[in-house]
Amino acid sequence: MGLTTALGLAKLGHSVVGVEINPEKLHSLNSGKLPIYEPGLESELLGSLKSGRVVLKAAIQDATSDSKMFFICVPTPQDDVGAADLKFVIAASKDVAEHASPDSVVVIKSTVPVGTGEMLRSLIGRDDISFASNPEFLREGSALQDFMEPDRILVGADTSKVSDNVLALYANIDAPKLSTSVKSAELIKYAANAYLASRLSFVNDLAALCEQVGADVDDVVSGMGSDSRIGSRFLHPGPGWGGSCFPKDTRALVSVAQNNGVSLGVVGAAIQSNDNAFSRVVTRLKSLLGNELNGKIIAVWGLAFKANTDDTRDSPSLEIIKRLLSKGSKVTAFDPIASAPNWEGLTQVETAVEAATNADALLILTEWSEFSQVDPKPIANVMSGSVVLDTRRILPVEKWSSEFETFKILGNGA
Ligand code: UGA
Repeated sequence: MGLTTALGLAKLGHSVVGVEINPEKLHSLNSGKLPIYEPGLESELLGSLKSGRVVLKAAIQDATSDSKMFFICVPTPQDDVGAADLKFVIAASKDVAEHASPDSVVVIKSTVPVGTGEMLRSLIGRDDISFASNPEFLREGSALQDFMEPDRILVGADTSKVSDNVLALYANIDAPKLSTSVKSAELIKYAANAYLASRLSFVNDLAALCEQVGADVDDVVSGMGSDSRIGSRFLHPGPGWGGSCFPKDTRALVSVAQNNGVSLGVVGAAIQSNDNAFSRVVTRLKSLLGNELNGKIIAVWGLAFKANTDDTRDSPSLEIIKRLLSKGSKVTAFDPIASAPNWEGLTQVETAVEAATNADALLILTEWSEFSQVDPKPIANVMSGSVVLDTRRILPVEKWSSEFETFKILGNGA
């Protein structure tokens, strides 16, 4: 998010100094190499470094002399009790405040619980600098595009002067600009992520019902989504939702609500429903394999939490693999980009065919588009079993069901 923000602001015509305190990452970025996989970002980085619109430095002191706006883009991981851990935000804000000149604005882009801006202001105790909240809504896999073409730009600030200053940075983006208090902006970010996650939990529960009653979830969702009050986006069923944001943000929101004596029952239920979604995949696969997972070889296609990223943080795929391993299965996994953890019983291979070789069942867990191009015939030839379960609904049904005795897709009982 930090790199995307730096490159995006540079693309908007601003001059940006990026600060990266990890020396290895800094070195890699300064040689034009991304330490992560994110489509389109590397070429943008190279261009911006070359033109000098972005310079990357190791310490905040190197960024303070001319800068008036400081964007804090550090992570807010989950702590032991599910709340957001603010240590990086606090450290970065203190660092900035120590060096910032009067009238600077510290803009928090990290996802932080409501009240963080207020807390930082009193912690730092400098009345001559302001704090603003400018949550980011980009998705991994389409980060730069989401930054440049957002649905809205949100700024929370205490005064309209500060808010206008931050919004002015985005003047060249044609999107609705929303101005709120710092607290409302902080809460909007969590509300949006929790709502989207709850929506997916609803769809995934519905997919389970479709399987039981013989309906098809795609038809149900498209019928439901054609009501303009509902809309059709972000309703695709899957093996459960994951990634570096939804799991931690839903838990952090529940935790904030609890601390304030409010029960966010819907969000709590969405988190529980997501765990049920992982279990359902394991249970269905088990029943397709004659009620036995122990000793089975399962081929898994997809390790990343979604397509077009190498990110496996809180990946549904890894959660499901973990459950399969605990039932005594062996897993052979393939992902075009993401890497598998070093778990006993889990082997990562280089190709989709290699993963399928000698497998009793094939499980599709990430929606990489290249999986839908694979010819099922050679896959059927190398597998020892004839079970395929597509939890992302991306394989062409006719082609695959003609090659496999048991070809099943999530959300369809047939
Ligand atoms: C999410 C939000 O979508 C962004 O708006 C937000 O800025 C970001 O979190 C954040 O807080 O930083 P991201 O985590 O990149 O973005 O991933 P999503 O595209 O939202 O997907 C999250 C999970 O939901 C994935 O596991 C994905 O496979 C799943 N998903 C998504 C579905 O199962 N079905 C869908 O229709 C959409």
